[in-house]
This record gives sequence, structure tokens and C-alpha cells, in this order.
Amino acid sequence: MIVFEALFFILPAYTANGFASLSRSIPIIKNWTTPIDFGKNLFGKRLLGDGKTYRGFIVGTFFSLLIGTAQFFFSRHLNFNYLKDLNNSPLSFFLLLSVLLGSGALLGDIVKSFIKRRIGINRGRPWPPFDQLDFIAGGILLSSIVYFPGWKILTVLVIITPIIHLLSNVIAYLLKLKDVWW
Ligand code: CTP
Ligand code: MG
Repeated sequence: MIVFEALFFILPAYTANGFASLSRSIPIIKNWTTPIDFGKNLFGKRLLGDGKTYRGFIVGTFFSLLIGTAQFFFSRHLNFNYLKDLNNSPLSFFLLLSVLLGSGALLGDIVKSFIKRRIGINRGRPWPPFDQLDFIAGGILLSSIVYFPGWKILTVLVIITPIIHLLSNVIAYLLKLKDVWW
């Protein structure tokens, strides 16, 4: 089914985004809060804000690589259409694709925060649908330098991601892993 295929493809991006957020609840590293913008301002407003940390970027990207490794092993047992394009690619290709999806997702999130600050939306305030789609856009854009899964998968992701994002945020909120439900 195309929905499962799309979800399987985008998993490294979802993982990076999820673990960047979870990183603030992981003992030992949770106190490493150095913001990517080092607290700098641009025209009186934060460049990115305290919500974008090196911790989140590194932890998120690391977990996307773990997922990429798992995808390599699972891919032999799945018959998704897009996997046929990858034609039994080696582990190194899956790692490259997943690290581009993961870091691209987090770069997309950073670009979104940069724009939010410029238009005056404070850190943590909602900006739908960009909060929900930034990481899909960033992940697919960056990873397309090595592989693009097609418009059908992209369309499916644009439709289902905001729904999954909302559901997972509500769960994270109920588990007290997030302060707000969006
Ligand atoms: N996070 C992080 N580093 C990142 C991305 C996220 O540490 N690169 C953590 C931060 O604690 C952040 C939380 O995950 O507050 C939720 O992420 P997100 O919703 O992307 O950030 P916001 O705080 O909502 O900030 P913004 O308004 O800039 O999106
Ligand atoms: Mg947010």
C-alpha cells in the first residue's frame, strides 16, 4: 500500500524530528542546551531561538542513521515499488539516504524557525501547517540529491504527516514529554 511505502521511505526524517524533540528529555544530554544560533539576534529578534539546539540536531541525525541501517536489512524482505529503484543498493547508500533525510529534516525545521522569528512568531508558538511539514520538505529536498521517491509518495506524505504529527504530539504531551500539544 502506498501509505506504508511512503511511511517506510520517510522514516529517517520522522525519526530525526522526533528524537530532536525527545533529546530534551534524555538524561545526561538534556542539560546541553547550547542554541544553534548561540543566542544571537538579528534586528532585535533571535536568529533561530532556544528551541533549536546542537543537541537536537546531533541526536536526531544519529537516530536517523540507526533507522537507515534497519531499513537496509528490512528492505530485502519488502516489495515496495520505490525499493525496486534502489535495486539492492548497499548499506552505504541506505546510510547516505537516511542521513540526508534526517539532517535535511532538521535543517528544514531550522529554516522554518528562522522565518518564524522574522515574522514575529515566538519560539514554541504554533505556525500551522509549516510546523508540521518543515521536516518533510527539508528531508525530501536534501535527499533528492541522491534519490527522489516520486510525486505520489510526496503527495501522500503531505496529506498524512500533519495528522500523524498532531497525534504524536498529543501523545507526547500526555506523557509529559512536551509542554504543548501542538
Ligand atoms: N529541539 C532541539 N533541537 C532541535 C529541534 C528541537 O533541542 N534542533 C527540542 C527543543 O527543546 C524544542 C523542542 O525540541 O523546544 C520542540 O521542537 P520544535 O517544535 O521544533 O521547536 P519550538 O520550541 O516549537 O521552536 P520554534 O517555534 O522555533 O519551532
Ligand atoms: Mg514547535
